[in-house]
Amino acid sequence: MKYLKILGNKKLSGEVRISGAKNAALPLIAATILSKNSVQICNMPDVVDINTLLKLIDKLGGSFSREKDCITIDSSKLHKTTANYDIVKTMRASILVLGPLLARFGHCEVSLPGGCAIGQRPVDLHLKAMEQMGAVIKINRGYIEATAPDGLKGAKIVFDKVTVGGTENTIMAAALAKGTTTIINAAKEPEIVQLCEVIKNAGVKIEGIGTSKLIIEGTNKKLLPMKDFDVIPDRIEAGTYMCAAAISNCKLKITDVIPLHLEAIISKLEEMNFEILQDETSVTILPTIEIRPVNIVTTEYPGFPTDMQAQFMALATQANGTSTIDERLFENRFMHVSELLRLGADIHLNGNIATINGTKGKLNGTDVMATDLRASSALVLCALVANGETSIHRIYHLDRGYEDLEGKLNKIGAVVSRHTEEK
Ligand code: EPZ
Repeated sequence: MKYLKILGNKKLSGEVRISGAKNAALPLIAATILSKNSVQICNMPDVVDINTLLKLIDKLGGSFSREKDCITIDSSKLHKTTANYDIVKTMRASILVLGPLLARFGHCEVSLPGGCAIGQRPVDLHLKAMEQMGAVIKINRGYIEATAPDGLKGAKIVFDKVTVGGTENTIMAAALAKGTTTIINAAKEPEIVQLCEVIKNAGVKIEGIGTSKLIIEGTNKKLLPMKDFDVIPDRIEAGTYMCAAAISNCKLKITDVIPLHLEAIISKLEEMNFEILQDETSVTILPTIEIRPVNIVTTEYPGFPTDMQAQFMALATQANGTSTIDERLFENRFMHVSELLRLGADIHLNGNIATINGTKGKLNGTDVMATDLRASSALVLCALVANGETSIHRIYHLDRGYEDLEGKLNKIGAVVSRHTEEK
């Protein structure tokens, strides 16, 4: 197993280029199942989760080729309909093939994603939406067996809870369904907006893009003439590097971003007393004389993202005072806390609320263990300002979602190296 060694207290400076968004690319790859032609997707991040989904497309009978950051996917000849446990267990987002497979073939079998480090993460809302569109769902030996012999039919879906993946699955299913689907309480994340736009550009009528009410006119199983496109920038990767600049209290320019997608993150950094300069495609964070504490509640977009909570917790350890983070989306997303304590942080948990007392300059490098993707990035951030060396183990979590993390960090002045554990 690989681990990262980070030597703390180095001055960061310069520019970081942000890659394409993993969480936009995953549903977009699944959406190629709806396409009658091959599609070239550029600005594709080179991260493990993307490769996992491509492997699934391949197993289903589709094909893909890669040239630099562009991947051409041909799902037109895809003919298998089973997403096996061996892939789904490694990545829950594999559930995103459910909607498009069912809509195209009238049946599919997708392994139920099992437990997850950040919470229960059920898929009941995905399944309920498919049922409302006419599917019959059975759970058999750990598999979702979905059938709709006469095809899916448009329906009014009211989500009890805002769900990103559930909204994505329903949009993709609705695109090939017969008739009109209305989704109420839809997620509004930029990743959902891009999925809608790509499907709309392929000729499907969609109203309400970017709002919580989407109206989609299905094609009644007619596959889509999907066009080539670029994946939007990764707002969470951008936010993570903004926190790297902030925690190190250094000036850093983050390029190739859409600043509008970063509003909630920028606003919290401003509350923490950082000045952020913005132009059309970049943000520059400037050092501050005092990092102020902050109170954060995670919520759906455009609110503060749960995927940035761990990184802000890392930053709050360097604030002058006491911060709080209230995690409202996932029930178990504080696994990083015990590892941050090992580095010397002063954090108290009460249910889903964390209280962080600033301990500026008092973190000390040691061995810590990554538990999920964003938790790992919080460990990296703390390691950047810890005294001495920090070794972060189980970094396969980081590789799932951060492209070339060491390369990007070393380029701006951090000292990060990758090693293999001795047995
Ligand atoms: C997406 O997960 C992201 N993943 C997550 O990013 C992100 O944390 C999450 O949205 C919230 O923003 C991808 O886009 C691939 P949800 P998703 O369905 O779609 C509950 C990262 O680090 N729920 O919006 O799985 C669920 O348990 C990751 O990149 C149900 O109860 O999230 C949670 O409490 C991790 N039933 C809430 O809704 C359902 O059927 C929101 O989950 C579905 C969800």
